Amino acid sequence: MNILVIGGGGREHAIIKKLRENPEVETIWALPGNGGIAADAVCEPVKATDIEGIVAFAKSHPVDYAVVAPDDPLVLGCVDALEAEGIPCFGPRARAAIIEGSKVFSKNLMKKYGIPTAAYEVFDDPAAALRYLETAPLPAVIKADGLALGKGVLIAMTREEAFAAVREIMEEKKFGASGNQIVIEEFLEGPEVSVLSFTDGETVVPMVSSMDHKRAGDGDTGLNTGGMGTVAPNPYYTEAVAAECMERIFLPTIRAMKAEDREFRGCLYFGLMITKDGPKVIEYNCRFGDPETQVVLPLLESDLLTVMRAVTAGTLSACPVTFRNGHACCVVLASEGYPLSYGKGYEITIPPQTLPHVYVAGAALKDGKLVTSGGRVLGVTAVADTLEEAVREAYALSDTIAFKNKYMRHDIGRRALAAK
Ligand code: AMP
Ligand code: GLY
Repeated sequence: MNILVIGGGGREHAIIKKLRENPEVETIWALPGNGGIAADAVCEPVKATDIEGIVAFAKSHPVDYAVVAPDDPLVLGCVDALEAEGIPCFGPRARAAIIEGSKVFSKNLMKKYGIPTAAYEVFDDPAAALRYLETAPLPAVIKADGLALGKGVLIAMTREEAFAAVREIMEEKKFGASGNQIVIEEFLEGPEVSVLSFTDGETVVPMVSSMDHKRAGDGDTGLNTGGMGTVAPNPYYTEAVAAECMERIFLPTIRAMKAEDREFRGCLYFGLMITKDGPKVIEYNCRFGDPETQVVLPLLESDLLTVMRAVTAGTLSACPVTFRNGHACCVVLASEGYPLSYGKGYEITIPPQTLPHVYVAGAALKDGKLVTSGGRVLGVTAVADTLEEAVREAYALSDTIAFKNKYMRHDIGRRALAAK
């Protein structure tokens, strides 16, 4: 069985390492992969957004199955294009990936099907948005409609900030055409929970819940990042909350997509806020989260490839999916200065005993040596029986890795520990 994985971050490295546990897996190609992934897959320099290049690669190699991991190729129709060449894929088609690709679409879907989410208004005219914000409740949450590298959400505490956000997104087009429309929504409060799920369009199987740490600094201070660390499971996701989410959010979403002729097959990510009025959807992602995957997949007991193929075949209801009882913690090691500017090209040393715990995100091979090439360099995951142990072990492992300008948060898991 030869597998093609599209993408090149820590999430893709976690997917590839998990796929490798299946003895039937022979070659894994990663497009583009990265210098660290190269230890576990054959990396080729084809960009994840180059759909034509990906299809050409797939046609000229004996690919049996493809996993499309990042949002952009999914929204651009990478699965549709590979399926047209007869290659079965894990991931939604473009018609379904729109659940992440357009916030206007997902908000309207939730309104139409009564799925709990923040109250909102949609604007395509900046003047109307500015007028609305003159009297709108503060803080106001302003979201660009389309993909914006995870940066398209602004929480405005003052009217001036809100006006500036509208001008940046709609007039200066900070995120290009993604800002042709915006959503302005009610500010919600409560702990956030990420729930990734496997779904074949009929059956939805939630994976173990997780908690991201998005801000750059300790104590949730500083700029928003792609994620500085994760823990799983999330203590706020109690059995009662899980049952309510299944009934009021997960199943209604899957059914709504099917009713709209946009059947979703792949990993559907529910970004939830547990408000005093119950769980509400903050966002949907049409893919595995990063760095959530780096704590969720290490807890998966079932064979990932078997589950993925059941999703593709529409036979998920007959496929057991189990997670081990335990806890995982992933600490992201970044380059000092991330998410703004940072140096690159520094050699990374990882002792052999740490390597199985490492998911490489931003590193390249230079003269046979692994060097930093991105803001988030790698994630280190530990699994243990308790959260305390998982956190302690993840930090102990992180200390064994060295590179110039290494930066990490020192409080990953602290909030989860306090909540228990
Ligand atoms: P997103 O890019 O959609 O993941 O949003 C980024 C972050 O903005 C989320 O993780 C939340 O912390 C925050 N956020 C988004 N929508 C809201 C909302 N309606 N109320 C409060 N916080 C929000
Ligand atoms: N960690 C959040 C995301 O993958 O969008």
